[in-house]
Order: sequence, then C-alpha cells, then structure tokens
Amino acid sequence: MSVAPMFTPFTLRGMTLKNRLVMSPMCQYSAEDGTANDWHVVHLGSRAMGGTGLVISEMTDISPEGRISSGCAGMYKPEHAAAWKRVVDFVHTHSDAKIGVQLAHAGRKASCSSPWDGGGGPLPADKAWEIIAPSAIPFSPDSQTPREMNRADMERLIEAFAQGARWANEAGFDMIEIHGGHGYLLSSFISPLSNKRSDEYGGSLENRMRFPMEVFQAVRANWPEDKPISMRISAYDWVEGGTEVDDAVAIGKMMKDAGLDILDVSSGNVTDDPRPRVEGLFQTPFSERVRSEAGIPTMTVGNVGGPEQINGVIASGQADLCCMAKGQLFDPYFAHHAARTIGVEDYNWPKQYAAAGFFKPVA
Ligand SMILES: Cc1cc2nc3c(=O)[nH]c(=O)nc-3n(C[C@H](O)[C@H](O)[C@H](O)COP(=O)(O)O)c2cc1C
Repeated sequence: MSVAPMFTPFTLRGMTLKNRLVMSPMCQYSAEDGTANDWHVVHLGSRAMGGTGLVISEMTDISPEGRISSGCAGMYKPEHAAAWKRVVDFVHTHSDAKIGVQLAHAGRKASCSSPWDGGGGPLPADKAWEIIAPSAIPFSPDSQTPREMNRADMERLIEAFAQGARWANEAGFDMIEIHGGHGYLLSSFISPLSNKRSDEYGGSLENRMRFPMEVFQAVRANWPEDKPISMRISAYDWVEGGTEVDDAVAIGKMMKDAGLDILDVSSGNVTDDPRPRVEGLFQTPFSERVRSEAGIPTMTVGNVGGPEQINGVIASGQADLCCMAKGQLFDPYFAHHAARTIGVEDYNWPKQYAAAGFFKPVA
C-alpha cells in the first residue's frame, strides 16, 4: 500500500507529528489583557480535532507593549500560562495533534486597533502606547515613530522571551515558534529597510541577526532540550533594497548552526509598500532553496491548497511541513476531508465519532 506523503509522520527532537499539515498562526484579537479564553480553546481545538498534525497559536506577545492591539494574546504574566494550559490540555486530551506557541513582539507595528474596532490602523494619540524598534523609522506615513531601542531595552526583551519560554513549557506547549517575520520586532532588525543602526546590531546581515540570535539563544536555554523551536522569517521583502532569498539561505545556515530545528519560510509585510499580486505557491520556492542550500528543515506557507498539492511539496522536498492559514478557517476539518479524498486507509478519527464509520477511531 502506498502512503500519501501528507500523512507521513515527521519528528523534530522529541515531538513526532502524525502528518505534515500545520495550522499557521493567526491573530484573533480576542484576548483580554493578553489572556486566552474560550475562543482560543475552540479556534485551536477545532483544528486539532479536524486532524491537523500541528496547530500553532496566534502571535503571542512577550510584553504588553509588544502587542499589535489590546486584544492580542500574551505570555507576559503568570495567568497567561494557566489560560494557555486550558487550550493545550484540550488539544492533548481530545486529539493526537501537537500544539506550538508563536512568541513575538510587534515592534514598530504595535499600538494598533483590532480589524473590527478601528480598522487595524495605528491607535489615536490618546490611546496609543510607546513603541520601540531598531531604528526610529515609522512603519507607514500615518504610524507612530518608534523609539530606537537601547541595550537595556534589548536585555529586558531577551529576558521577556526567556520567561515566555518558561511559561510556554508550564502551559505544556510542544513547540515554540519565534516570530522573526512580517515586519514585527525581530523581522525589523533583520530587514535593512527598517534597521539603520550604526552599532553592532546594524549593517551586515550577521549584525542585523545579532538581536534575533540572542533572543533565540535565550529561548533555547529556557526550553526543554527535547522540545523543538521553529522561527518564522520573511525570506524576501518584496521591496528594492530589502532582504533577498540569498539572505534567507544565509539565515537558515546561521540558525541551523545555532541549533534551530525548523525555519518557517514566509515573506513580505516588512513595509507598507504594496506587494505584487502573487498566486499559487509563491513562497514555496523560497522554502525549497533554504531547505536544500542551508540544509535545515522548513515549513512552507502561502496558498497551500488541496492534499495533492501538499503531497507534491513533501514528496519533491520543497518543504518538510505545509502551513495552511485561511484554508483552515474555511475548513477546520481539512485534514479529515483530505484523507477521505485521497483514500487514506490507516487514518485516526475522534473516538466520539467512530459510530459514523468513516474512519477508525483514535486508539
Ligand atoms: C486572520 C489572519 C491572522 C494572521 N496572523 C498571523 C500571526 O499571528 N502570525 C503569523 O506569523 N502570521 C499570521 N498570519 C499569516 C498566516 O499565518 C499565513 O502566513 C498567511 O495567511 C498565508 O497563508 P494562507 O495562504 O494559507 O492563508 C495571519 C493571517 C490571517 C489570515
């Protein structure tokens, strides 16, 4: 019997995923003072029940001022670990999925409204909070100008990421993903468009990677040895003078040498310049290059569609895992539907649904 590549297991350190489908992180703007709630249990729990191998939380910020909006989820106080534990326990009790947390700081893209309460733009001055970034360059013409970070800011945030990792472990997460993409704080250090520093944290790619690397090392040191770490990056800025895919390959090599387990290869969103219209698996060639030239496992993301496409990506070695975001908002049971579509025989299905007879139950 041939095995569909999408439904082959994949192991990173002590974490074995049952298949290659990942629920990509998606901000929900539904937390209160960073605390996850019933929404997060159902949002992540339903995709885990739906058969996804790994679900990753939305961008979860390690300090209150590092949130995009006041509704963003956090990991900056002890109550957050307890609230996330409810989500994690649901996933572990009622599915055989694994669950990761995306730890982040929004940098110069912080202090905004939620999409449905203010349109997602910068907060008015009376509601805004101070934002920080590698350089005092606003994200867009109507954004607040961030304060340039000093060494004390860096040390404070490195410790906040480390504490976030300890709380993530208390909550029982299986993996941490560090958000180093999409123009948020770590990404804004990496991109030469937002990092104009003249100290050892600006200039060459090695220098621009210094702060993200220090964050990674602190997270690694505060996270159990047998649990993996991923990092999402913007492999290509889509803006002249920005990061190129060659840089992404170099980042992959640096991070592999430092002990990163997998690179989540996204792109763009580092400036408010319009991106060219892109269709199909437009980011998968970036993943393929990083995977083959840097020799580090990768996840691809962006327009990942049906199971045949995922089989193709995995079988041809373009990525080790496929992240799907919007597709799983539309269909939380995408993995079950995919297994039925391609006729997977040896497939687990929630035991509560066994009487329906579609698949055998989870053992
Ligand atoms: C509602 C929404 C929220 C998102 N929030 C995050 C986030 O918190 N962190 C992140 O890295 N990407 C975020 N993204 C980007 C997705 O993870 C993904 O990279 C992107 O949607 C492309 O994948 P897709 O074509 O499968 O939707 C978000 C996307 C959507 C639609």
